Amino acid sequence: MKNDFLYGVGTSASQIEGAYMADGKGLSMADLLPVNKNERFKCVKDGSFALANYDANKKYYPAHNAIDFFHTYKEDIELLAGLGINSFRLSIMWSRIFPTGEENEPNQEGLDFYVKVIDECLKNHLEPIVTISHFDTPVELIKKYGGWFNRKLIEAYLRLCKALFRTFQGKVHYWITFNEINMILQLPFVGGGLCFKTSENREQKMYQAAHYQLVASSAATKLAHQIDSKNKIGCMLAAGEVYPYSCNPQDVFAALQKNREQYFFSDIQVRGYYPSYANELFKQKNIKLDILPQDEEILKNTVDFVSLSYYSSRCTTTDPQVQKNVTDGNAFESVKNPYLDTSEWGWQIDPLGFRITLNNLYDRYQIPMMVVENGLGAVDTLTSDRKIHDSYRINYLKNHLNALQEARKDGVDLLGYMAWSGIDAISASTGEMRKRYGFIYVDYNDRGQGSGKRFKKDSYYWFKTWLAEER
Ligand code: BG6
Repeated sequence: MKNDFLYGVGTSASQIEGAYMADGKGLSMADLLPVNKNERFKCVKDGSFALANYDANKKYYPAHNAIDFFHTYKEDIELLAGLGINSFRLSIMWSRIFPTGEENEPNQEGLDFYVKVIDECLKNHLEPIVTISHFDTPVELIKKYGGWFNRKLIEAYLRLCKALFRTFQGKVHYWITFNEINMILQLPFVGGGLCFKTSENREQKMYQAAHYQLVASSAATKLAHQIDSKNKIGCMLAAGEVYPYSCNPQDVFAALQKNREQYFFSDIQVRGYYPSYANELFKQKNIKLDILPQDEEILKNTVDFVSLSYYSSRCTTTDPQVQKNVTDGNAFESVKNPYLDTSEWGWQIDPLGFRITLNNLYDRYQIPMMVVENGLGAVDTLTSDRKIHDSYRINYLKNHLNALQEARKDGVDLLGYMAWSGIDAISASTGEMRKRYGFIYVDYNDRGQGSGKRFKKDSYYWFKTWLAEER
């Protein structure tokens, strides 16, 4: 492919692997999330609720079986490679390697699984792009320490990193330290395993946990470079430009502040220190953080590239009337933008917003970037002759790939583009199977019932042709 640009697909362990107790694996945060919409919604915001209501005998937990990639990885990787892609983004389930998060030695059987998966990628000429932590903090670390609110988690995370960097030295060169690190502010249990008491300052807790993750990410960057100078480490944002609803300066300033909520994380990971606006932000929110002088030293280990997910743009206003008209978008509530259509789940569809987001991020940081998630969650119908006519997905991807090309022409230095999710996976936000993103259909429903067979969608053939023409 031109200039070795990475075209691939992205997945995460808890959304595809299943086998949630195999080979000594411990429970992960994701194992505790039920499919029931209302209950799941409460869990993702607060781990106290998730821990108190977990009952595997009575309820269905989609991550327990997912699409059974644990057993089908060979066929699945081969099918995906058939698209003509040259890279595959996957994540490591932390509790497969360290079941409680605190063992001195990694669980060899857990590691072996990923050795097989990575070897399979390499056999199929797929560059592995590995997310170290993708929404799967081990439950034991949550019970014992309250998740990322405790500094102890840094040490536990680095133990995982060390095991991975050593095991995959020479095989994996691209690492992402935390999936969508800014998501901790939207979904604190998902992003950081956080649990709350009713009266506490939630933001104090979230920003403290974020600080420990930022320190852990920088320490991991240092370690990765020490173990193999060829390692490239990326931070990752759940990105999507926030537009002002109107040109009223009040709206423009509100949008600036909303955008800073996401940039706060990458500002630190790319520049190596807290941004100047953080002081005022913390003062307003009455936040006091435990930041040690040695933390500030560690933060100086900055990332090699910025990665991002992009599904939609967002919009904000200070007008109380307009504020009433909201819609969803990857856990970020947004004011409805009258110029945009939405997906079946209310996420606004905005390819130009993709180009805008890429340009703004690149203007801000001027280091290479990688798109590691982009796609459309939609209901697909499997016809009686086993076809899936997903023209809506083709349209979405065609327009976004076009915007990507335009952004490259604008001068944005991009390393690659991964479509989410290549193969159907359970939805991270809803736990549903029917919210499908893949080029490959997997025959399971929201209760995990079905043959599990894989079928190529129309988008599979379309993407394959698109990629071939791109060469
Ligand atoms: C991102 C996550 O937030 O969005 C993925 O990194 C997730 O894990 C993707 O699957 C799409 O969101 P959802 O909720 O539709 O699965």
